[in-house]
Amino acid sequence: MKILAIETSCDDTCIAILNTENNQFLSDISSSQIEVHRKWGGVYPTIAKREHQKALVPVLKKALMKAGLLSSGNSSIKISKILEREPELESQLNRFLSTYGIPDIDLIAVTVGPGLDPSLWSGINFAKALSLAWGKNIIPINHVKAHFFAPLILEEAPFPAISIIASGGHTQLIFSKNRNDHRIIGETRDDAAGECFDKTARIMGLPYPGGPEIAKLAKKETSKSISLPRPMINSGDYDFSFSGLKTAVLYKWNDEKEKDDSFKIAMAKEIQEAIVDVITTKTFLAADYFEAKTVVLGGGVSANALLREKFKEKGNNFKIILPDIDLSTDNAKMIAITAEYEYKKRGSVSWEKLKSEPNLKIS
Ligand code: KG4
Ligand code: ZN
Repeated sequence: MKILAIETSCDDTCIAILNTENNQFLSDISSSQIEVHRKWGGVYPTIAKREHQKALVPVLKKALMKAGLLSSGNSSIKISKILEREPELESQLNRFLSTYGIPDIDLIAVTVGPGLDPSLWSGINFAKALSLAWGKNIIPINHVKAHFFAPLILEEAPFPAISIIASGGHTQLIFSKNRNDHRIIGETRDDAAGECFDKTARIMGLPYPGGPEIAKLAKKETSKSISLPRPMINSGDYDFSFSGLKTAVLYKWNDEKEKDDSFKIAMAKEIQEAIVDVITTKTFLAADYFEAKTVVLGGGVSANALLREKFKEKGNNFKIILPDIDLSTDNAKMIAITAEYEYKKRGSVSWEKLKSEPNLKIS
């Protein structure tokens, strides 16, 4: 079976094509919006939606071409109702459909949540239009589930497993008893971990996304030291809270008269330490409690070298999965891998039923 997977839940437009016969990816194409969002210092949903609408057809064309599935022909049928509120995307797609034939794929998978509502809708409406135009089955996929499920499957990891998904949009701890039984055991009550990196970086005048900028600064030497809180580290549950840390940074920043390099470096080091400390402590408390055999670190924040180091140090007690960066940040490969399993379990759904579910929970 060949699965074409579409992911647009935040600010990356991604399409991947998986051949499930040999588990090979025929293509994996992403278009990042970072440059656009950098101007505003963060992701604005309406801008993200506009950018997805511009990128979807070019990304689809590249993905099909790379997979050797782009052939001339005409697969045009009336899709206008589905994309009536997205005229630019509609006209691009109509041009595409009247130039190229129906590709040899069997299933379309698309992220339906959680994520930013306008971003999610772009991918969903696009997937619906393709499903209708090509006569292909469609399956909705949970984005957070894909983040941890795909690495677990790829690594053939032993269960039970604990996964922490930390990105700009989510911070969730998930307990997986087996491949079919997943439960959120904790999540952030306010900002996500990546959002905390981004917002504190912004306070310090660093560009978006803030995580890599703070990590870069934290590598440098400084004579100063700063102390920041580790919110909820001893709360006795598996929830997180990062907005208090952001406020503490704001106060320290505003109180400091001499915002020289050594102050900025000390601040970056401590922000990183605090976030890494909270994530690591809570994840491994959960791993011990639930007697996990595997621990997965996913989401964009898992690119953080200090966090990866701390997780690796626990390698004696657990199988630690630190997915490659292309599978950690938002991507369509994880959607395709998850889709193969979901399809076997529950089959496809009618395209009319698909809708955006910004707060979708794991099931
Ligand atoms: O998964 P992702 O690409 O997109 C979503 O937000 O869903 O994650 C992006 C987040 C941003 O908040 C960014 O600052 C953070 O991941 N990030 C990092 C690092 N690289 C990216 N945070 C800390 N250290 C890094 N090296
Ligand atoms: Zn994500």
